[in-house]
Amino acid sequence: MSDLEKMRAELIGQIDAASSPEAVEAIRVATLGKSGSVTALLKTLGGMSPEQRQSDGPRIHALREAVTEALAARKAVLDRAALDARLAAETLDMTLPAEPLPLGTIHPVSQVMDELAEIFADLGFAVATGPEIETDWYNFTALNIPETHPARAMHDTFYLEEPRAAGGGQSPPSDGVGFADAAGRAERMVLRTHTSPVQIRAMQAAGGDKPVYIIAPGRTYRSDSDATHTPMFHQVEGLVIDKGITLGHLKWTLETFLKAYFERDDIVLRLRPSYFPFTEPSAEVDVGYTIQNGKRVIGGSDHWMEVLGSGMVHRKVIEAGGFDPDLWQGFAFGCGIDRLAMLKYGMDDLRAFFDGDIRWLRHYGFGVLDVPTLSGGVGA
Ligand code: PHE
Repeated sequence: MSDLEKMRAELIGQIDAASSPEAVEAIRVATLGKSGSVTALLKTLGGMSPEQRQSDGPRIHALREAVTEALAARKAVLDRAALDARLAAETLDMTLPAEPLPLGTIHPVSQVMDELAEIFADLGFAVATGPEIETDWYNFTALNIPETHPARAMHDTFYLEEPRAAGGGQSPPSDGVGFADAAGRAERMVLRTHTSPVQIRAMQAAGGDKPVYIIAPGRTYRSDSDATHTPMFHQVEGLVIDKGITLGHLKWTLETFLKAYFERDDIVLRLRPSYFPFTEPSAEVDVGYTIQNGKRVIGGSDHWMEVLGSGMVHRKVIEAGGFDPDLWQGFAFGCGIDRLAMLKYGMDDLRAFFDGDIRWLRHYGFGVLDVPTLSGGVGA
């Protein structure tokens, strides 16, 4: 056996015995690397006579090829074995119960919004939405709160710094409304101070000739902060526009809603005359409660707590929404969702709602599968 054949047999034997990809790589470096043994043989070709090169050249090249192939083959075998071992070790059993794993919870505000949608869907109301960054026109003017109206001061509005330029290179909102004021001046944008602008948007979407029955839950903003006020809070708006709507419909709807929400028949409501620019007449609604073991319990009429504002939709607002106020009437109400959640589920500091404290969420949150239904109990 020539030296080359001996070397080849030895190398192939080493390669086939390599037990890891790292060992294969070490052999590769030692043979085909810059100062490897096979590389060294290839370098000797340059100094050979033409005759010797003709006889040794092909044998040395054949050795290099054989070693290269053996390395690749061994590496493939070892890689596959490593993958098989990994696949066998890393199993994922999709049938295992998820329960022992820490699960997130549904925030009480989301839960209450779902409860509201369920209750009002049963009464034939759809859910409507509107933007949180709203034009001055939708948030105020269309709701019968003109520029000089003192109600604007009551709202502690967050105004956006840059007025949106009327036609100043920016594209107008897709609805084309509320882009500039009546005089064509650029209009200020605000963080909506209530969900009432959705009243206008819902009426416009109905096109002035179809009844509107909607609720609009969502985020609202006012510059205000203490144990019962946060700069961002949640409201739900209710709006009905139809023919022959009276205050009686409003009262019945609110009573039905609050009884379903608190899941009690002994709910007592008190409607107090009030004032909102967008309703006439207007009423604030209180729910009666009693104190039991130092806790507020809804029901009875020992104490009263204000829960919502309401009234018959003002003519001017019906007009702004594109309806004829001589043919169509309606009622509207607005209600703080956070307060509804606090009352039903017994939290006493509103700020904790938005702290994102996982312990609070674990305590007050709802299971992801606790979907509120009227048949199963909206209280989950
Ligand atoms: N938008 C009013 C508020 O935020 C509530 C309200 C809505 C009152 C609809 C009457 C009718 O206080």
